[in-house]
Amino acid sequence: MNQKMAISVLFVVLVCFSCTPPAPVEETQPLPPTTLELLNQSLSPGINLGNALDAPAEGEWGVVIKDEYFEIIKDAGFNSVRVPVRWSAHTDTLAPFTIDSVFMARVHYVIDMALKHDLTVVVNTHHYNSLFNAPAEHLERLLAIWHQIGQSFATYPAQLVFEPLNEPHAKLTPALWNEWIPILTKELRSTNPDRTLMFGTANWGGISKLDSLVIPETEHNVIVTVHYYDPYHFTHQGASWSEGSDEWLGLTWAAEGEQLAQMGKDFDKIKAYSVKNNRPIYMGEFGAFSTVDTTSRVAWTSQVVQESEKRGFSWAYWEFCSGFGVYDSESDTYRDFLLKALIQDK
Ligand code: BGC
Repeated sequence: MNQKMAISVLFVVLVCFSCTPPAPVEETQPLPPTTLELLNQSLSPGINLGNALDAPAEGEWGVVIKDEYFEIIKDAGFNSVRVPVRWSAHTDTLAPFTIDSVFMARVHYVIDMALKHDLTVVVNTHHYNSLFNAPAEHLERLLAIWHQIGQSFATYPAQLVFEPLNEPHAKLTPALWNEWIPILTKELRSTNPDRTLMFGTANWGGISKLDSLVIPETEHNVIVTVHYYDPYHFTHQGASWSEGSDEWLGLTWAAEGEQLAQMGKDFDKIKAYSVKNNRPIYMGEFGAFSTVDTTSRVAWTSQVVQESEKRGFSWAYWEFCSGFGVYDSESDTYRDFLLKALIQDK
């Protein structure tokens, strides 16, 4: 090709190139989930090992955590356990508030077993009842408890999550709870700078005070946890610890009409908080007591799972083998109707 021809070809190429309509803008790929979101997702499906270490003493409420439970839980398709612990019953009441070493070793054993079975673990402070009527008198002790837990588990993998306090309520008001969150965070960061923390809502952990919950903006490694037992009279009918609950016996629930719409609204409220505050959500407790008729119980439970999963919340059912139990520890079998309501793709 002589020089003249080469210039003409170049000219044609350039002209054609400039005539080409602009390439359509490529759709942005979704951003890869962050480590925190991945950890949150790894909590689902989860189960609470309730009524064991949260009883005044393990076994007192009929549940001792047996070694084989971890395999039984993993095999059913659960990915995590929440381990509610009544530390306050095993800690000196005077400074320096030492946790009983035998009890600490027992909690270690349970958490080690769970991690060995590839279950992500949430450990909390459960049923610290005296604190809620006199919070100021108990803050120092709560911090000392978490200092010891923090030191004791500092080298544990990221699959262990700390939840500093279950269901704040009574005199631990939403405002006071918001003051405590940075104090507890500071304490936990002194021993576990990189561990994921979880904070729930005042007024018993439900959605009623969710909008008041303030997590310090500088603290990024936090999941917000919410409990869902609504309608309370339905889920707690006949529950001995809920006054007047015998009168609620017979209440039913179906995934239709006003009942379904209300649940959707409740979950939308949680989602709105999550988006506005950029916090992942863990539905850390939900369940309908064994006194609820099976059809309603299945409908409600499976709907909570669906509403959670639709919005990207992780979840843990309350609880494994007691009054809400998905597992019958006497016959050593799962209550299949409940298991199927929880793990729906099995
Ligand atoms: C309490 C349990 C109770 C459950 C449902 C939990 O937070 O610790 O004792 O059974 O809520 O009421």
